Amino acid sequence: MSSYLILKYIHVLAVIVAVGTNATYGVWMALGARQPDSLRAILSGVGFLDNRIANPAYGLLLITGLAMLYAGHLFVSTPWIATALGLYVVAMALGARGATPALRTQLQALESGGLQSERYQRAAARGRTLGVIFMVLVLVITFLMVAKPALWG
Ligand code: HEM
Repeated sequence: MSSYLILKYIHVLAVIVAVGTNATYGVWMALGARQPDSLRAILSGVGFLDNRIANPAYGLLLITGLAMLYAGHLFVSTPWIATALGLYVVAMALGARGATPALRTQLQALESGGLQSERYQRAAARGRTLGVIFMVLVLVITFLMVAKPALWG
């Protein structure tokens, strides 16, 4: 098997881990809202999954993606690759500067003011919105990777 295919295999495994983990957050949050006693543990659990499982897998996606460009003699200037890479950067910035801080604020607000506090509710709503936008970006990237549309040029 070529090194390109081995890289692609690892790339797809990383997609499964990263996107699959992210997809469970909504379920965790819904369960947490129904069981306020477990909410603190659930929020820290989501934070742990994000830091230790999902985000490293997104890092591995970039590394294996770039390695495939090299191994497969592909160009960053290819429209579907350039668009996907741009969306990847936007999505990662949104996660690091928006969603992750919102989760941290949510935990702090839960401890200081409780579930009904305005600070908690605001951080939870912000995290939800950013999470949905992040998932849409990732779904668009996945489509670009799978369909490789010509787009322009
Ligand atoms: C959220 C980020 C990403 C997701 C969800 C994703 C998803 C995927 C999927 C599902 C495939 C398999 C498509 C196929 O074989 O037909 C793939 C292939 C590929 N991806 Fe990604 N990817 C991501 C990030 C990246 C990045 C950042 C790069 C480049 C820097 C990249 C470069 C590639 C390349 C070169 C292929 C191989 C295409 C082929 O062999 O036909 N990916 N990606």
